Amino acid sequence: MADNIPLFNLQKQHESLKKELNTAALDALNSMHWLLGPQTEAFEKEFAEMMGVKHCISCSSGASAIQIALGAAGIGKGDEVITTPFTFIATTSSVSLTGAKFVFADIDPHTYNIDPKDIERKITKKTKAILPVHLYGYPADMAAIMQLAGEHDLKVIEDCAQAHLATVDDVKVGGIGDAGAFSFYPSKNLGACGDAGAITTNDDAIADRCRSLRHSGRAKDKAYEYDLEGSTLRMDEVQAAILRVKMRHLQEWTDARQKVASWYAEGLQGLPVVTPPVPPAGGSQSYYVYTLRVEDRDGLQAYLKEHGIGCAVYYPVPLYKQPAYKHLGFNAADYPHAEKAAKEVLSIPMFPELTQEQVARVCDTIRDFYEKK
Ligand SMILES: Cc1ncc(COP(=O)(O)O)c(C=O)c1O
Repeated sequence: MADNIPLFNLQKQHESLKKELNTAALDALNSMHWLLGPQTEAFEKEFAEMMGVKHCISCSSGASAIQIALGAAGIGKGDEVITTPFTFIATTSSVSLTGAKFVFADIDPHTYNIDPKDIERKITKKTKAILPVHLYGYPADMAAIMQLAGEHDLKVIEDCAQAHLATVDDVKVGGIGDAGAFSFYPSKNLGACGDAGAITTNDDAIADRCRSLRHSGRAKDKAYEYDLEGSTLRMDEVQAAILRVKMRHLQEWTDARQKVASWYAEGLQGLPVVTPPVPPAGGSQSYYVYTLRVEDRDGLQAYLKEHGIGCAVYYPVPLYKQPAYKHLGFNAADYPHAEKAAKEVLSIPMFPELTQEQVARVCDTIRDFYEKK
């Protein structure tokens, strides 16, 4: 029996960098700087450079990055933020933590990202921001979103948790809206060895407020004077040191993911599966996951698992159906495209170290499934 092929594999990446990571982590530990020290400062400088933005503000997670970015953009109680229901719950829980209310717009059935036409329908006098998610690493329709934001004087905070190095018109996501929120959860394209996140922005005032909000709302360079009501949402020095080591490989890992995607696109031709969309010129995607839309999703998922191939559904239950939001009384019929996608999507193995042989085996197994039907 052939070896199992996991959905993602952090082991290989970790093994290849183990020595460097151990040294970096121990050096940070023994430096006696725990928070907001030289590692954090260097990480922020390097990440901002890599993302092509003026500022990077590190923080404790992707969720806190969204919360801080929204707060720094002036979003709070009484405001509405339009976002997608087809995402991880941190997107919406972070809105709620600012005191604002999230409002869902349906998704585009081809990209799975928020549909600008439905955003427009959901804009009210209370709308203050749009929160697009670059789902699976495919950039949202930022041209249309930025146009709407300009017309209605709205802030745009990009949820880039799955989209490190993805681009629109040759600009990296996180540098298009007013701010971008990144997650470095261990399985993300750039993952820490624990929780970590960052905000990117070209706006000096937003950057200053982000720095304050992650640090209990402190006034600049004042230990016990608070301009804002923030919280304890900093990244620690050890994670910053680890991320600096890994960041040097992010471009090569992204290239490898794109190569894997091209093997899949070729190998799956002629099968009743819809492969991920291809961005227009100047665009690229990070392939956080490789997601198909398929016939008999649950049957295929069971078959792949039976044959040792990892797969998962992101996301089987859209947010408007989550028990946590029952009291908000959403109606699934208002989001037909999210509803359909949740029943048909399936993500198959995707990580930079996947080999062409492994990809061929995944494709052959999918072919066998449909031939046997
Ligand atoms: C789309 C999206 N938004 C936000 C987050 C939150 O990131 P974190 O887990 O680092 O808080 C994630 C991570 O899982 C995500 O996938």
